[in-house]
Amino acid sequence: MIMRLAEIGEAPVLAALHGQCFDEIWNAAAIAELMAAPGTFALVDEDQTGFILVRTAGGECEVLTLCVAPATRRRGVATVLVTAAAERAAEANANVMFLEVNATNNPAIVLYKRLGFGAVGLRKGYYAVPHGMREDALVLRASIPLLRVGFSLQLG
Ligand SMILES: CC(C)(COP(=O)(O)OP(=O)(O)OC[C@H]1O[C@@H](n2cnc3c(N)ncnc32)[C@H](O)[C@@H]1OP(=O)(O)O)[C@@H](O)C(=O)NCCC(=O)NCCS
Repeated sequence: MIMRLAEIGEAPVLAALHGQCFDEIWNAAAIAELMAAPGTFALVDEDQTGFILVRTAGGECEVLTLCVAPATRRRGVATVLVTAAAERAAEANANVMFLEVNATNNPAIVLYKRLGFGAVGLRKGYYAVPHGMREDALVLRASIPLLRVGFSLQLG
């Protein structure tokens, strides 16, 4: 599975992917702005079925978003995206990766735990969800390199 850096011109494709995966809309302009920020990069798989957006700073990195189109899930795309992003962040001297995940998002939590992430915090009512409700975010942390779970990596 080949992962490569996404270019800013691909922001509309990434926004469309994001829209398939989350209720919260991130439009192409917002994604392009994040991609252009210092220390931030996006990786996408060669078929453009998923992407990850990561910000590196001060020896740490943070996953800003991760999504894989519903039609191509459970094929290891997210696992390879997270692992490849950690490797790239390590080249920018990051040795720890953080992220926030909805505490009810079991698929993502299982994925991250398999890669060695553990909970280091809870943000109560962090996410706005329909009907005026709020849901908690777990803050997860992992040391880089992440645990390997058996996928071979190829960076394009
Ligand atoms: C979470 C998400 C990124 C996973 O993408 P994916 O490419 O399907 O993940 P992978 O194929 O790499 O899954 C790796 C492992 O995670 C776990 N996992 C993934 N999806 C799961 C699910 N729906 N239920 C239970 N476990 C799941 C499994 O252990 C899986 O390994 P297996 O398929 O061998 O059992 C994808 O479901 C998605 O885009 N969801 C919506 C957006 C989102 O929640 N993003 C994360 C926000 S922090």
